Amino acid sequence: MSKEVVLSGIRPTGFLHLGNYFGAMRNYVRMQDEYNCYFFVANWHALTTHPDTKELQNSVHRVIAENIACGLDYQKVSLYVQSDVPEIAELYLYLNTMAYKGELEKTTTFKDKVRQQPDNVNAGLLTYPVLMAADILIHRALKVPVGKDQEQHLEMARNFAERFNHRYGDVLPSPQAFNFGSELVKIMSLDGNGKMSKSENQMNTLYLADDDDLIRKKIMKAKTDSGPTQPNSFKPDYIENIFTLLKLVSDQTVVNKFETDFNNCVIRYGDLKKQLAEDMVNFIKPIREQAADIQSNKALLSKIIHQGAEKARASASATLTEVRKAMRLNY
Ligand code: AMP
Ligand code: TRP
Repeated sequence: MSKEVVLSGIRPTGFLHLGNYFGAMRNYVRMQDEYNCYFFVANWHALTTHPDTKELQNSVHRVIAENIACGLDYQKVSLYVQSDVPEIAELYLYLNTMAYKGELEKTTTFKDKVRQQPDNVNAGLLTYPVLMAADILIHRALKVPVGKDQEQHLEMARNFAERFNHRYGDVLPSPQAFNFGSELVKIMSLDGNGKMSKSENQMNTLYLADDDDLIRKKIMKAKTDSGPTQPNSFKPDYIENIFTLLKLVSDQTVVNKFETDFNNCVIRYGDLKKQLAEDMVNFIKPIREQAADIQSNKALLSKIIHQGAEKARASASATLTEVRKAMRLNY
């Protein structure tokens, strides 16, 4: 039996961080053997908010390099850049005739963007969910690993697919959100205020590109307090987050020691952070170094990107042939 298609996109609009790693990329790596995976860099989407293409080119290369450094095997998955697959743009055009102005204007992310960039409310922003639907439907993907914030977009993709099928015949399957295995972890910002994110709150976010000293500095500044006064106390969010990070990158014996110290009210947060900083340095360093090697190897990058585009276009053009046939556009 052929493997189910999994697809996800990453916007190249900033540096990838630990939240992206543990919330997304680590799962992509686990999926690559079981599913037919398409992962792509959403550079057309980025243009709706980041029109500077000089920056964009670097970011696209970095996202590709970092994904491989995190364990994606470009021989197993299709790792490609959105703008290398023109078939997506054609499907986007057809789906645009099935998307209504009213529903697009009601989309939460559109309303957020209107607030954030009132001087650049371009049509690309309005039709963002249509392009995202085209990204997914072009490979007839069934499973889409994305965070909660993307659920509305996925629902719209299902609506567009259903409208297409109703109007022209059954071609496009309905994609669903997909969590691989257990609950997804959420990585909080080091000051305990909200999630780690690509471009906000940079001194409280650990990026995969951070050097050793910067990692140490950020962790040593992470928010703590004077420690618990009652045995077996409840941990405040920002302390819980430090333990979450410790569990992700340190040995179990280390975690156990600090858990016990916390429960006995003898924990020294300075020591905890020093230990976490060293373990985090050891965790991030090989990823950063491998990503930098790949990023400076333009020949390799180009080979990876071309190979990805070829695989993606083969699948995309097969769907488009069906779409055109159903629409009687195959003259
Ligand atoms: P974004 O950086 O918002 O474009 O998200 C890319 C992917 O990383 C999505 O699947 C998110 O759910 C995931 N992600 C982003 N930030 C975090 C975070 N702080 N903790 C866990 N997952 C995250
Ligand atoms: N909209 C997604 C985000 O902001 C990125 C994205 C674009 C995507 N196209 C996609 C995700 C298709 C999954 C499938 O994170």
